[in-house]
Formats: sequence, structure tokens, C-alpha cells
Amino acid sequence: MTHEKPDYDCCPSLRTIAMPADANANGDIFGGWVLSQMDLAGSIIATQTAKTRVATVGIEAMSFHKPIFIGDEVSCYCKVDRIGRTSITVHVESWARSRLGATAQKVTEGKFTYVAIDENRHPVPVIR
Ligand SMILES: CC(C)(COP(=O)(O)OP(=O)(O)OC[C@H]1O[C@@H](n2cnc3c(N)ncnc32)[C@H](O)[C@@H]1OP(=O)(O)O)[C@@H](O)C(=O)NCCC(=O)NCCS
Repeated sequence: MTHEKPDYDCCPSLRTIAMPADANANGDIFGGWVLSQMDLAGSIIATQTAKTRVATVGIEAMSFHKPIFIGDEVSCYCKVDRIGRTSITVHVESWARSRLGATAQKVTEGKFTYVAIDENRHPVPVIR
């Protein structure tokens, strides 16, 4: 597992602040909230790639490396891993930086697969 910041980091797909409402019972940030941010970030890249609407069909290799705390700035970096006939797999990493911190650290990563769909929600080929 590498912990080098991605070189596509100049431009995260999504950046947000973890808020008190996103915390779990321990007072740290709830994993489901982070997962949904990653899914949103990946869907932005998948939609741009497919040039049509997409639906999330699978999540693989999801790892939570470190906790995220209330007030942290969370940035999701995305890279297209694979384009299939109708599917697009996006590798998503999230990095967290404390509010006044100078550096970010990788906190989660996973592979999100999206399917290009038409207005009737049927899969359509991804035009390359
Ligand atoms: C997305 C959906 C339309 C796909 O329909 P489907 O009949 O399952 O489609 P297919 O079996 O033809 O699979 C489509 C592609 O997804 C891939 N796929 C299917 N299940 C997968 C999984 N669990 N993980 C990764 N890829 C998967 C297939 O390999 C195929 O890829 P390819 O065309 O590039 O070879 C349908 O599964 C669906 O509506 N799922 C619910 C989506 C949803 O509500 N998501 C949450 C909110 S966005």
C-alpha cells in the first residue's frame, strides 16, 4: 500500500468539510459518509467519461486506512482504472487534512464501478 499523494492531486473531484452531523457514535466520522463522498466523486468522473448518466453497480477493494475527524477537509481524487463495454471503474482515494494542518494524509481508497445508462435506466455502451 502506497501513501504517496496522487499526481492528479492538483484537482480533486470533490472537496468538502466533515461536519458534526457526519460523525458516528464514537465522535469520529462515519464510514458511510466517507463512502458516499467517494461515490459522488467517482460518479463525476464516470459521468464525464460516459457523457451520459451513470449508476453505481459495484464497490471493490474498499479500505479505511485512518480515521477522519470533525472539521477535517476531505478531498477525493479519482482516476479511471478501466473502461468496459458499458462500465467504467474509477479508483478513488480520499485524503484528509486537519483544519489548520499543512499536510493531508490518505484515509481511504476503493474502486467504484459505474454503468452508463439511458433514460430508461438500461445499460448503454460507453463511446470511447
Ligand atoms: C446498473 C444496472 C442498470 C446494470 O444493469 P445489469 O443488467 O446488471 O447490467 P449488466 O449485467 O449488463 O452489467 C453491466 C456492466 O456492469 C458490470 N457489472 C455488473 N455488476 C457488477 C459488479 N457488482 N461490480 C462491477 N461491475 C459489475 C458488468 O460486468 C458490465 O460491464 P461491461 O458492460 O463493461 O462488460 C442495474 O444493475 C441497476 O440498475 N442496478 C442498481 C443501480 C443503483 O441503484 N445504484 C445505486 C444508486 S446510483
